Amino acid sequence: MERKKIRNFSIIAHIDHGKSTLADRLLQMTNTVSDRDMEEQLLDNMDLERERGITIKAHPVTMSYKANNDEIYELNLIDTPGHVDFAYEVSRSLAACEGAVLIIDATQGVQAQTVANIDLAMKQGLTIVPVLNKIDLPGTDLAMCYEQLEEILAIPAEEALHCSAKSGEGIPEIIEAIIDRIPCPPEVEEKTLASLIVDSSYDSYRGVVNYVRVFSGEVRAKDQITMFSTGKSYEVKEVGVFTPKMKALDVLSEGSVGYLIANIKDTADSKIGDTITSKMDPVTEALPGFAEVLPMVYSGVYPIDSADFETLRLSMGKLQLNDPSFVYQAESSAALGFGFRCGFLGLLHMEIVQERLRRHYDMDIISTYPSVVYHVYLKDGEMVQVDNPVYLPDPSAIDYIEEPVISANIMIPNDYIGAAMSLIMEKRGLCENTVAVDERHVMLSASLPLHEIVIDFNDRLKSMTKGYGSMNYKPSGYQQAPLVKLEMKVNDDPIDAFASIVHRDAAESRGRKIAERLKAVVPRQMFTIAIQAYVGGNIVARETISAMRKNVTAKCYGGDISRKRKLLEKQKAGKKRMKQIGNVNIPQEAFVQVLKAS
Ligand code: GTP
Repeated sequence: MERKKIRNFSIIAHIDHGKSTLADRLLQMTNTVSDRDMEEQLLDNMDLERERGITIKAHPVTMSYKANNDEIYELNLIDTPGHVDFAYEVSRSLAACEGAVLIIDATQGVQAQTVANIDLAMKQGLTIVPVLNKIDLPGTDLAMCYEQLEEILAIPAEEALHCSAKSGEGIPEIIEAIIDRIPCPPEVEEKTLASLIVDSSYDSYRGVVNYVRVFSGEVRAKDQITMFSTGKSYEVKEVGVFTPKMKALDVLSEGSVGYLIANIKDTADSKIGDTITSKMDPVTEALPGFAEVLPMVYSGVYPIDSADFETLRLSMGKLQLNDPSFVYQAESSAALGFGFRCGFLGLLHMEIVQERLRRHYDMDIISTYPSVVYHVYLKDGEMVQVDNPVYLPDPSAIDYIEEPVISANIMIPNDYIGAAMSLIMEKRGLCENTVAVDERHVMLSASLPLHEIVIDFNDRLKSMTKGYGSMNYKPSGYQQAPLVKLEMKVNDDPIDAFASIVHRDAAESRGRKIAERLKAVVPRQMFTIAIQAYVGGNIVARETISAMRKNVTAKCYGGDISRKRKLLEKQKAGKKRMKQIGNVNIPQEAFVQVLKAS
């Protein structure tokens, strides 16, 4: 397709404002997908996403459309996720575009995530097409939306289009606006290939499928290409576009978005954000890649059956391929055996990675209590970073500890100001500013410890404000806090999987909770077991499991021998999965139960 007829755009919105529904309508209206084939929310093609109703991966789709001026255009749509944890994926999609359709739910108006996404889009210099969606709903408040567009986003109200992505009303006007307002890919002087890897997936037969945006030059099958960052070269096997099924093409040229397969088997050789260039005539500079994102939350992930360790490692490698912000490293635990220490962007990211492992890779896994990365200043002047409570140095060596803090923008209806402020205080936060957004909404700016956000802040905010509150956050440095290591011990031996770093004031109640849960699941033994929660050598909570009087077969006296044998065999099978903590045998299942609840 001729460069001037190409339009590359994303849809950006706050979660649930209707991106996927609008994307479906665009696919239908451009006859990319026939009505009959239209599976609900086609772009969100992972079950997990459909269930959670959030878009987490960007899928590029190419549409062909005959506009009112009778010319045929190629429209490349890159879907973007809408949750706070995934801002990096939004910026990744935006890097491949010249414009963005901004959807606002006309019944809810601008939300915290709308503001964050618009900031990203404007920073990249994209043309914005604002669309007010869900105008079929009775709660539509266009006047509020116009005011917010101008006041909060500095977008003239007259630029806004309206639609109902559900009924299809207003969709043709949106397509015409995309063609009229969003510029075509710019002309570049460079004629050699420079193509950005926007995303990728793995096909077990064909290797890595790179999703690319060609910025200069062209690429076709049999071309020799080089990955800029590694210098490794490959022969291109196939190029094409997603319609949304893969469709092979002769060539991908300047300005287009599509896929490139080059028999790359090692997932580590295809990095998102890398530049693919020509082997014979490479560009001298890489395209601007993406900001490196650092994991903010860590947790141990263990296979429930230790025989699954290797499969888990392979699954994690594949998962990391199109999610470079997920990191992992092998570790072992006395309680849980061999597993991995994993880093995530946030709690939702963590849940989604774990769900993907469970569902797509069929792994039975358990994870430990999440931790953030602490800066621990030692008395000898050294600073160590700790993301695993097990490695927190002895309190006698520690001068002080700093924890990561974030600055959050929280948008809520006026009625909930009081409740939101008390939630912020309860979570050790500081409300710094309150700005009226319009007559009915305020934006609170607050500083909060990341650890508190990771645990349940977003869920609490949502339920407290009946779903109307929204939050967006970014890291804002470190601050000192009275943090301690809470350790759980069984007959004086620590259970590593339960160690956590918590605020001094929260240690006792958490220690008591875990001790109670452990007491409920640890089987009685021939001797008394003490379950204790320790902070710096002091016991803060204690539970006792009294000794067992009879052995397992005692109740079958006089019974037949086969029944007795069965019981013993059952006990033996159970022992295989037993973990020895000091002199106490505890079934792994008991740890799993307690971890699931904490
Ligand atoms: P994430 O993928 O979660 O970020 O959400 P999204 O922005 O893709 O939203 P989605 O398209 O899944 O829509 C969210 C909900 O709003 C769904 O239940 C849709 O059916 C509904 N919805 C979307 N557009 C409209 C509309 O125009 N009118 C009405 N009544 N409902 C709509």
